[in-house]
Amino acid sequence: MYSSSILDSNFYDFSGLEPQCAPIGIFDSGVGGLTVLRQLYRQLPNESIIYVGDTARLPYGIRSQTEIIQFTREIITWLQQQRVKMVIMACNTSSALALETVREEFNLPILGVILPGARAAVQQGKRIGVIATPATAKSNAYKQAILEIDPDVQVWQVGCPEFVPLIEQNRIHDPYTTEVARSYLEPLLKQEIDTLVHGCTHYPLLTPVLRSLLPSQVKLVDPAVHVVTACGQELDLLGLKNTYPPLPTRFAVSGCPQQFAQSGVHWLGYTPMVEQVCFTDMSVSQLQQDFVG
Ligand code: DGL
Repeated sequence: MYSSSILDSNFYDFSGLEPQCAPIGIFDSGVGGLTVLRQLYRQLPNESIIYVGDTARLPYGIRSQTEIIQFTREIITWLQQQRVKMVIMACNTSSALALETVREEFNLPILGVILPGARAAVQQGKRIGVIATPATAKSNAYKQAILEIDPDVQVWQVGCPEFVPLIEQNRIHDPYTTEVARSYLEPLLKQEIDTLVHGCTHYPLLTPVLRSLLPSQVKLVDPAVHVVTACGQELDLLGLKNTYPPLPTRFAVSGCPQQFAQSGVHWLGYTPMVEQVCFTDMSVSQLQQDFVG
């Protein structure tokens, strides 16, 4: 746990530092993006990271495209104000529905999870199942990306509206969650899939439950692994890979910081220090910061 002295207002001021020392901004609606954060710790341990969880407005997966674009735009605007050098959308729903739009609006490298996930999936199998939020499944983003890479594979997508609320409520080991998972997997198992893509960054947290229901030969693809590999390549290409020790990860949420800290500790192995930020009104966001440990 970090000491409160790090919350000095200049602590996260990157303005005077070399560009490579600037943080990477990553965001999700909630704790799902922690699966991407864990990969960043594993693969790119020198990078400083700002994590955004838009917990006041989750789940994203049942929202309209207009809303998702607007939320994504607001979060990236805030991250840009924090002087990030790159943004990773640690959210499939934003990647599926907002990536193209915001890439044209911001002068900042922005990576989404769909393409890296689709590339990894076609390397694994020929009969590919995708579990995702209803919005991602409806967008067909995975199906299109996979078929563009390899038109000979078959793809089936299932929208799973109950998963994100169950994960956010820490109900992963509740028998009800297993029953819900069984019903979502049933149509995919009927198609005898050989590969299953976690089409939502929350879902790798359900791996033990999904594994208990899937035949052992079915391979699981976690796009988080592959977007972080792509991030490393992009940083190399841009000459932006940090070679100095990183700062502690900064966590900013729009909802309750305590609740995020409590859920986050399970997946991070440490209690994150979380601040509350209002992404909807940038002019007052700095006044509304409320730190908790
Ligand atoms: N974890 C996100 C995703 O990858 C969003 C889930 C949600 O809020 O519905 O889609």
